[in-house]
Amino acid sequence: MFEQNSLQREAQRTFTRILPRLETEFVAVLTTDVWALFRQRLEAHFDDLFELFFTLYGERYDFLFHLERLLAEAAHSWLERPQPLKTLDAARERNPRWYQSEQMVGGVYYVDLFAGDLQGMRAKLPYFQELGLTYLHLMPLFKAPQGDNDGGYAVSDYREVDARLGVMDDLRALAADLRACGISLVLDFVFNHTSDEHRWALAAQAGDEDHADYYFIFPDRTLPDAYDRTLREIFPEQHAGSFTFRPAMQRWVWTTFNSFQWDLNYRNPEVFRDMAAEMLFLANAGAEVLRLDALAFTWKELGTNCENLPKAHTLVRAFNAVLRIAAPGLLFKSEAIVHPDEVARYISTRECQLSYNPLLMALLWNSLATREVRLLRHSVGYRFAIPDGCAWVNYIRCHDDIGWTFDDGDASALGINGYDHRRFLNSFYTGRFPGSFGRGLPFQENPRTGDARISGTQASLAGLEAAVRVGDAAEIELAVRRILLLNAIILSIGGIPLIYLGDEIGILNDYSYVEDAAKSGDSRWVHRPRIDWAQMARRSDPSTLEGRIYGGLHHLIELRKATPAFGGNDMKVINLGNDHVFAYVRTGRQGERVLVLANFTEHTQPIAANEVRLYGLGYRFQELITAREVALGDEPIVLEPYQVLWLAA
Ligand code: GLC
Ligand code: GLC
Repeated sequence: MFEQNSLQREAQRTFTRILPRLETEFVAVLTTDVWALFRQRLEAHFDDLFELFFTLYGERYDFLFHLERLLAEAAHSWLERPQPLKTLDAARERNPRWYQSEQMVGGVYYVDLFAGDLQGMRAKLPYFQELGLTYLHLMPLFKAPQGDNDGGYAVSDYREVDARLGVMDDLRALAADLRACGISLVLDFVFNHTSDEHRWALAAQAGDEDHADYYFIFPDRTLPDAYDRTLREIFPEQHAGSFTFRPAMQRWVWTTFNSFQWDLNYRNPEVFRDMAAEMLFLANAGAEVLRLDALAFTWKELGTNCENLPKAHTLVRAFNAVLRIAAPGLLFKSEAIVHPDEVARYISTRECQLSYNPLLMALLWNSLATREVRLLRHSVGYRFAIPDGCAWVNYIRCHDDIGWTFDDGDASALGINGYDHRRFLNSFYTGRFPGSFGRGLPFQENPRTGDARISGTQASLAGLEAAVRVGDAAEIELAVRRILLLNAIILSIGGIPLIYLGDEIGILNDYSYVEDAAKSGDSRWVHRPRIDWAQMARRSDPSTLEGRIYGGLHHLIELRKATPAFGGNDMKVINLGNDHVFAYVRTGRQGERVLVLANFTEHTQPIAANEVRLYGLGYRFQELITAREVALGDEPIVLEPYQVLWLAA
């Protein structure tokens, strides 16, 4: 409707019209500092928000009404924002790149499975401090249907904590305690869908037309069939296609994931406004990072795969602009587990400052299976760089499955056939491939496409389960080394390392989930066991397996925090002429440098001294992990099986 310049003029005109109206609504606080600050931020971010909101809803006659109500909601939320969080906002504004620090170490797990409930979680604070966490993601903890609720990712009320875990005040108290210990609380913003028991979904089921418009509901198969032609099946074991028939309504509902997870209709501005209000509520409860669940799926257009569409980005940017105005300390973390080109598009300070790094995750496992680093070196080598001011969240395992999300072009450049290779990886990590050390389970195997993903804990996939079963000490040693190798990489490569709790002591797969009807249909539960604190206690005994893994990891975490070169994102992958050794150079803000070498095989591997010299990194290194001096002579540097060296120049 408008050209760029006239859009800006329109934004200005709208601002001068809306501001006095807002001020009439908030007249009681107009002369206070809090209002001055709100006004200042509104002025700074209004044009941006206007443009984004216009892109989404500019065609609608009631566009301005919705924009004004959105701003009123933002103003309310800012006025209610607790003082300690406003103080934190100010601190973040003074130190906007805090999350790029080498001090950052993340952890994630389920509240109930880790500590029973939120009170129990507070009691675990000393443990989080011992481990060195500065970031704690608590898996979804809001009201959800009884029985299967996709691990809480089917939210029935964004303002009510699941009664089994506690109440909102417990969450606020926990957030405050964490903050006092320098740990940022991370919560999910599950905004692609609600559960079918959310009050909007219930209203739609009762025949309320306004709320039916919050979702995608169809009277027959005409549109579902038309959409299904171009959609990928995300949970093919749950239902074919992306729609679910509701007999009571005699209607089809869009359900990308499970049948009880109803996709929200963001073409409706009321949905945006209502979800923005829920988002600000989470912000004011003390979350410092919001994990944007399934953000790739939020915008749908007929004839497309309805993933990563331009307006899915606009939506996130618009939410981000709302945050900049009303809760400026908050960050977004992108959960885009899609093609690496698409993952990168969500990352910017205007959109998501943080992003999972699914490519690194998948390729680390790939290299362990193949004992080769070519694909890792090639893909990560040119895909790691992200905009200044952003950070990867590097992980080895999480609550989800492993999907082999590398680019087929990257693979074929090295003579690897993507389709065949994924089949090999699935076969390897389900333990079917002869000689494989991996003990995982297939997830969402699709007989129609031959596709599958992998479930399993870090330790089971890295060979510990198979080795422990047969009691083979040498194999156990190799598995422990693989685990420490993966961790040494996520702790040093640049970004926030994220530990899936339980992995720090090498927890194995727990197959008992099949006895629980609410879980048996979803193999991801095999790597979501209840934490056994008697087992956890063995972490301080170095003669136990738990102690070996924990001790090694703890040592690495302490070293990371003492190594400024591990802050920031400056990372350069290098090729030192050995396809079994992953190598990169980290450079800190002050020019500090660390050369990282990681041997992905069970054999010793040499790196010729000449190759290292070529990179001009110096002649003498301090190896941080073993605290030894390494001098470059004529002899090669020799890495032990699965050894990682952190060579500080
Ligand atoms: C995200 C979650 C996953 C969940 C899905 C649907 O991908 O990580 O666990 O099943 O979204 O909410
Ligand atoms: C799909 C989605 C991802 C989600 C996963 C859950 O891969 O792309 O968002 O985490 O399913 O299995």
